[in-house]
Amino acid sequence: MKGLILAGGAGSRLYPLTQVASKQLQPVYDKPMVYYPLTVLIASGIREICLISTPQDLPRFQQLLGNGSQWGITIEYREQPSPDGIAQALIIAASFIGSDSVTLILGDNIFFGGDAFPRAFAEFRAGATIFAYHVNDPERYGVVEFDAAGQAVSLEEKPAQPRSNYAVPGVYLYDNDAVAIAQSLQPSPRGELEITDVNKEYLRRGTLRVQRLSRGTAWLDAGTSSSLHEASAYVQTIEKRQGMKLGCPEEAALYRGFLSLDQFDTLVSSMPRCEYRDYLAETGAEVRRVGIKSA
Ligand code: DAU
Repeated sequence: MKGLILAGGAGSRLYPLTQVASKQLQPVYDKPMVYYPLTVLIASGIREICLISTPQDLPRFQQLLGNGSQWGITIEYREQPSPDGIAQALIIAASFIGSDSVTLILGDNIFFGGDAFPRAFAEFRAGATIFAYHVNDPERYGVVEFDAAGQAVSLEEKPAQPRSNYAVPGVYLYDNDAVAIAQSLQPSPRGELEITDVNKEYLRRGTLRVQRLSRGTAWLDAGTSSSLHEASAYVQTIEKRQGMKLGCPEEAALYRGFLSLDQFDTLVSSMPRCEYRDYLAETGAEVRRVGIKSA
């Protein structure tokens, strides 16, 4: 399974913040937003990752994330010249995906809690697996409707009259057919290649699995100044209470066995003195003493 992080877009709703750094580089409490989806991929066991962004922002992501070797993974980069739709990521990254299956994750989707993703990745064989999350404002999202037996029966992108409260978060697991499906799409009325249209094709073929995320999972939006602030406050609250960080790729790489403890220690000692380094140093020491904390 390969991993794709889509981190482009205009970021206009966060103007003027996004004049100098894209949305996915903005801080969510104590780390850049893109660390959170990246950590979801690492924690789910994905080692080959490709990040897609705008030509202007791509060098900044490269500066931040490098080639991934510090976390025992590989990161490649591809440009999306203009924001022509989420499904275009599958076309842009076709050569990276090759004949593999792929997980696409949006660079501004922040998740915490539950083991739904690692489980779904481990169970994935073919077709598509997407997720459903109960929200107050489904009209802002892709919306999935279930029948009484819990089977998904319809998918709609930002419907004016949503048929359910279940929104589809920005994590999509696909077999290799997704590339050809994306290539065959026509732009929607808003001029984008819609990821919902890819999912609808899997639904039509009878190979779409929709897994509901439990209420114990947090899915946060960071697309506006106030939701960005709320996401930061949420992360701060949880981290302070638990003494464990969210969205920490170093820690996920250690737990997943992508880094040995010695490699982890070397990485940590290369960081400047700061609270993040202190946390990781303590994590390494704790793992040496008592093994892995709860993931
Ligand atoms: O967050 C989940 C929702 O994401 C799904 O429920 C919807 O089905 C899906 O269409 C999408 O909704 P939005 O249309 O609100 O997504 P937005 O345009 O905000 O783009 C999501 C992220 O992807 C954002 O960080 C920018 C990036 N992006 C978006 C487009 C259209 C790109 O990098 N390139 C693009 O062409």
